[in-house]
Amino acid sequence: MAIEKRIGILTGGGDAPGLNGVIESCGRTLIEHGFEVVGVCDGFEGVFEGRTRSLVASELKGLHAAAGTILGASNKTGTAGREDEFLRRYRELDLAGMVVAGGDGTFAGLTKVSPGLRMIGVPKTIDNDLAGTDFTFGYDTACAVVADSIDALRATAASHRRCLVVETMGRTSGWIALGGGLASYADAILIPERPYDRGKLAAFLRARRNSGQRGALISISEGAAAEGETASVAFEVAGSPQAERYGGVAQNLARWIEREVGWESRHVVLGHLQRARPPTTTDRLLTLAMGIEAARLVCEGAWGQAVVLRDGQVTRAPLDDIMKPARLVPPDHRWVALAQAIGAFI
Ligand code: F6P
Repeated sequence: MAIEKRIGILTGGGDAPGLNGVIESCGRTLIEHGFEVVGVCDGFEGVFEGRTRSLVASELKGLHAAAGTILGASNKTGTAGREDEFLRRYRELDLAGMVVAGGDGTFAGLTKVSPGLRMIGVPKTIDNDLAGTDFTFGYDTACAVVADSIDALRATAASHRRCLVVETMGRTSGWIALGGGLASYADAILIPERPYDRGKLAAFLRARRNSGQRGALISISEGAAAEGETASVAFEVAGSPQAERYGGVAQNLARWIEREVGWESRHVVLGHLQRARPPTTTDRLLTLAMGIEAARLVCEGAWGQAVVLRDGQVTRAPLDDIMKPARLVPPDHRWVALAQAIGAFI
């Protein structure tokens, strides 16, 4: 097939439930329009190593229901210092352009290689912190995992008269801890955007316990910290566009609650379970519409655009819009007010 009709699909960064939906809906729409669709394997690694796979309609059907990405993804390989090599290897793939589902690291890496690279961006992260779009796919599924977990843990917390501290993903943004914690009516929600006062948290927990409450549930973002303290970085991944990996905050808080409040505590790290569940209906409908819109942009040759969600509608915007600084939780977000209205500590 002529190069002009060969389109790549690449999934970059950490996986997010819904990626397979983008691959299916975009791939099937492109094939309907007479394109050849090529999957680039393992994100940037597939470009550097020339690993691709041809995607035909029969293989694409039904993918949308599974978590992960059939193409593989990688969040440990950037383009920094290897820009020329990346461009050379990319040209060898003979693609007219690429549909790229990724986060800020992926798009920053690609635009550094070549500002004019023919691509259509699809914003992706469970963290929900990309600018320019109402929310990202994968986020709703991650919140469902958190909410279901907190609701399940309430029984054992009450049985043993314990505090259960549940650590969520999210890096520097608290969307997952907030959305999941609110949906499960957690007693306390601790997010990076609202550093907490240790004295007030201890007083809150003492009051809850003294009121006769048997157990308490705390939703804490991996990047959260008390006032004047810094987030707990567990380790770094060399070569990753975002090298820090957060961790340890829930364990530390559980030990502190026992010492300070005298309330027996345990911690649970939900970790990659938040990326592992089949996408919710919300995420499926979003990725269905986004993949189709991305394919339409390819058909029009509207390179340099991103597919975004604005006021509930999937539409298009310049790629730069989703590469702006991370969209953190506004400290006075309406969900913060909802949490406060039911007496949660936030
Ligand atoms: O950015 C997505 C994310 O899931 C973060 O919430 C989390 O901190 C990080 O990726 C984990 O990365 P890894 O898969 O390398 O452990």
